[in-house]
Amino acid sequence: CGIVGYTGFQDAYDIVINGLRRLEYRGYDSAGIVLEGGDNAFEVEKTKGKVDDLVNISSKLKGFAKVGMGHTRWATHGVPSDRNSHPHLSNNGKIAIVHNGIIENYDTIKIMLTEKGFSFKSETDTEVLVNLVQYFMDVNPETDFPTAVRYALNEVYGAYAITVMHEDYPGVLVVGRLGSPLAIGIGDKEYFIASDASPFVEFTKEAIYLEEGHMAILSLENGVDIRTINDNSKIVPEIQELKLNLEQIEKGGYEHFMLKEIFEQPKSIQDTMRGRLLVEEGIIKMAGIWDHLEKFKNANKITIIACGTSWHAGLIGEYLIEEFARIPVEVEYASEFRYRNPIITDKDVVIAISQSGETADTMAALKLAKEKGAFIYGICNVVDSSIARITDAGSYTHAGPEIGVASTKAFTAQLTILSLLALKLGKHNGNLGNAEFMSLIAELNAIPKKIEEVLEATHELTQNIAKDFINATNFLYLGRGYNYPAALEGALKLKEISYIHAEGYPAAEMKHGPIALIDENMPIVIIAPKKGHYDKIVSNVQEIKARKGKVIAVVNKGDTQVSAMADYVIEIPETSECFSPIVASVPLQLLAYYIAVYRGANVDQPRNLAKSVTVE
Ligand code: G6P
Repeated sequence: CGIVGYTGFQDAYDIVINGLRRLEYRGYDSAGIVLEGGDNAFEVEKTKGKVDDLVNISSKLKGFAKVGMGHTRWATHGVPSDRNSHPHLSNNGKIAIVHNGIIENYDTIKIMLTEKGFSFKSETDTEVLVNLVQYFMDVNPETDFPTAVRYALNEVYGAYAITVMHEDYPGVLVVGRLGSPLAIGIGDKEYFIASDASPFVEFTKEAIYLEEGHMAILSLENGVDIRTINDNSKIVPEIQELKLNLEQIEKGGYEHFMLKEIFEQPKSIQDTMRGRLLVEEGIIKMAGIWDHLEKFKNANKITIIACGTSWHAGLIGEYLIEEFARIPVEVEYASEFRYRNPIITDKDVVIAISQSGETADTMAALKLAKEKGAFIYGICNVVDSSIARITDAGSYTHAGPEIGVASTKAFTAQLTILSLLALKLGKHNGNLGNAEFMSLIAELNAIPKKIEEVLEATHELTQNIAKDFINATNFLYLGRGYNYPAALEGALKLKEISYIHAEGYPAAEMKHGPIALIDENMPIVIIAPKKGHYDKIVSNVQEIKARKGKVIAVVNKGDTQVSAMADYVIEIPETSECFSPIVASVPLQLLAYYIAVYRGANVDQPRNLAKSVTVE
């Protein structure tokens, strides 16, 4: 979910609505706003649907107030509905709240409050929290509003970022955080709240990222007062300079963020390597790993934990690290790792991969690994995100903000970091000879150029292919070796945004099951570069054609064998096998994108998904 709040001198409606649009990637099944009017009374509008639906019912509130907050939701407790949308009000109507996260013990609190005479309009955990705040003010009229919020937060556990307003405390916003992110923008006579800094970058470059377990009271009169939630100790805020600019979070002429981000890849990969890959000197410099090379070298094993697309990057990371550094690697879904009592000791290295750096499953798995004494390393895209902060060390991907819900440039940036890491470790461990190292880094350095070529050569082609498959109901994606995870990722992209069922499989495993699905209606995307089991893939394509499957083949330029059998051919430049998933992923992203666009789907905000899943 996304939260925006404002107190200052500008029109709060505009700031909240524009802010919600920027945060819509975090969830978009309902939206709402509350404003504090001239007589301090609240005006609330909320609805199931997107921010545009909210605007349709609330535009009369434009110019109405200088204080307010809003919410865009990804449903956890209670179906998406007007009733379950935020903001929620307390029973006396005086306190309003917006919340991102989950209150795990809301049940018991709800029972307690019901016994005291409270009633509830929604099924949400959030409405329980706001009534708990009212309860603390009711039982002791001496308790002021911020104190009541603090008391309430001390009673709940789970994950949350909240903003609360009270009619009797005009101009005051109280915020708190545990688990879910929250940034405070400091302007001149105005303050902003948001789940990330994008809603306020054009107004101020100064921000405070609220720490876990902290709350803040914002008012024009008293500024920002930060306290610990548990014992109310005063905290001196650390104000940071924002590096984000407006252009990075706008579409820049592209129809969707996803397309813009696909086209940004030559640059984002370059940015990931910048200052790290010194080809002429033959050096890979990674500040994050510098002091810890021995830790990695002597590790019993490396465990990579991640979710979704980042997990696919992890699988390729496993191939890279095992091939070049010869350290055993396991890759696990963060959500599984966490609940199966994994064998992790202080001789282990655990790498978390996360675009957002906020994924709750990954965060929880990392905490477990840390408790078990492992050295934990983060690969995140969002600077200063929660995962980046709890890891012992790490490398940022520096791909720039990724807003399309389906991950594209963050994925190829993750592969770039994992390549650098594997080559660096391989060199350090003495497994990778100098000549091979030099040739691999030269090849890695050439990847951005090759992606430029791919974009140029396949942009129109993938549109034409996409047109033939808009009515498909299933897709198979196949690849071998390094390109098996690339097949998984290709399939995930298609299902996320087009809602066509798609499965990725190791090409050779096809004959042990999925081959039963193949007939003339089954499209099969097969990744078949020259390097990497090409002859075996040729046999796999023969097996498919014998059953009349429709083959879309991703091959190297000048390919003959697979191309002769395939129904559609997408050519990409040749590269080392270990980097081929970076190049091969690009036309698969475009193919998924255009199939989804032609099916009329909302590619940037696919149904039921959210970019940053901050609940377990
Ligand atoms: C969500 C997104 C996926 C993403 C996954 C992991 O499910 O919809 O696109 O891959 O989270 O996100 P992370 O930010 O940890 O990489």
